[in-house]
Amino acid sequence: MSVWIINGNVWDTASGSLQKKHIRLEGEQIAEIVDGSAVPDTGSAEVIDAAGKLVSAGFIDMHVHLRDPGFEYKEDMATGTRSAAKGGFTTIACMPNTRPSVDTPETVKYILDKNAAEGVVKVLPYAAITKNQLGRELTDFAALKEAGAIGFTDDGVGVQSAQMMKDAMALAQSMNMPIIAHCEDNTLVEGLYVSEGSFSRKHGLKGIPNESEAIHVGRDVLLSEATGVHYHVCHVSTEQSVRLIRLAKQIGVRVTAEVCPHHLVLSDEDIPGFDSNWKMNPPLRTPRDVEAVIEALEDGTIDMIVTDHAPHSAEEKARGMQLAPFGIVGFETAFPLLYTKFVLTGKWTLGFLLERMTTDPARVFGLPTGRLEQGAPADLTIVDLDNERAVDPSAFASKSNNTPFGGWKLQGWTVATIVDGKIVYNESAN
Ligand code: DOR
Ligand code: ZN
Ligand code: ZN
Repeated sequence: MSVWIINGNVWDTASGSLQKKHIRLEGEQIAEIVDGSAVPDTGSAEVIDAAGKLVSAGFIDMHVHLRDPGFEYKEDMATGTRSAAKGGFTTIACMPNTRPSVDTPETVKYILDKNAAEGVVKVLPYAAITKNQLGRELTDFAALKEAGAIGFTDDGVGVQSAQMMKDAMALAQSMNMPIIAHCEDNTLVEGLYVSEGSFSRKHGLKGIPNESEAIHVGRDVLLSEATGVHYHVCHVSTEQSVRLIRLAKQIGVRVTAEVCPHHLVLSDEDIPGFDSNWKMNPPLRTPRDVEAVIEALEDGTIDMIVTDHAPHSAEEKARGMQLAPFGIVGFETAFPLLYTKFVLTGKWTLGFLLERMTTDPARVFGLPTGRLEQGAPADLTIVDLDNERAVDPSAFASKSNNTPFGGWKLQGWTVATIVDGKIVYNESAN
């Protein structure tokens, strides 16, 4: 089937500006992108008029929690992928901390089958490094890869044993697979839930120190150097981690890294009080750390933006800050938040933000998507850059609404999302 997206504005890297284009989709591919001066003969094709809107390659989110199987009361394949589509994401990579965890080929297949049956975006499953993510025994990497896993991670927890991590890296390297790491030394964080900083001091709490993250980054960079594996650092949140990653890149270690929107726009000084919507792991750090991760994204030390979409039920989040689980939802606020805070303020170009959410994750993980060009998969996002709207968590497509951004007035809302040439989200139809 053919579709014409006419009159949309496409970011042009060469000129650093938006240019009007018409885009023809043929089946699952982008067939042609033509100059926007005259509307082409669209024949019998379906026509989407994107006049005044941004048309981008679909966003890619390499770090999300879909909770399926096992925690479907928080999210499931249908709601998680719809939430992603509503946020403009067309490819997402899901973490293995489900129940059961993704530590067998059967569970990898379950996710792929469930998405084929009920999902609306492309879902790439990660598999666990250790069985049940307990850090005791490696999973069967070969079988998990064969089943469709795209990398190995114990996200949700750090791999505590250096030997276990080294073995995992050596094995992953032998089959040309990446290791993705949630960096956290348990001995430094036990029972703690906010970072060491002004909030913890004000309330007389012992805080999570920055070293709890950076110690793992440093250890793993050395292990990556020793094994040669592609090592990807999850949700970088501290100045110390940034320094280590920067040095590692300088000396040629195969390290890449990601950062979340909340770590780019919030610090511990913004936490309004004991509200669990401000509790996530890694925690919000100091303003100095926020500066450091922004600078690291700008200079290429950090490669991409991911949401760490982490839905939890209202009941769980109502347990109070100390007892509630870590995590916030991210799909439906990520782009508007960053567009409003960094592009509208003139800090970043629109192209810079788009690259961190499309071409960079595709480059790092070798994905065929993330490009708006002839022959690429027809995964696209159409965004209204002008309309300001307040974040309404009760209207999320996600099953959960745990966010600190409720009520924030933002611009950059997705109006339509297309995956493999099919419209999977359309604002006017919702
Ligand atoms: O905030 C977080 N939520 N951090 C994690 O590491 C895990 C995640 C989750 O699964 O809820
Ligand atoms: Zn994590
Ligand atoms: Zn995570």
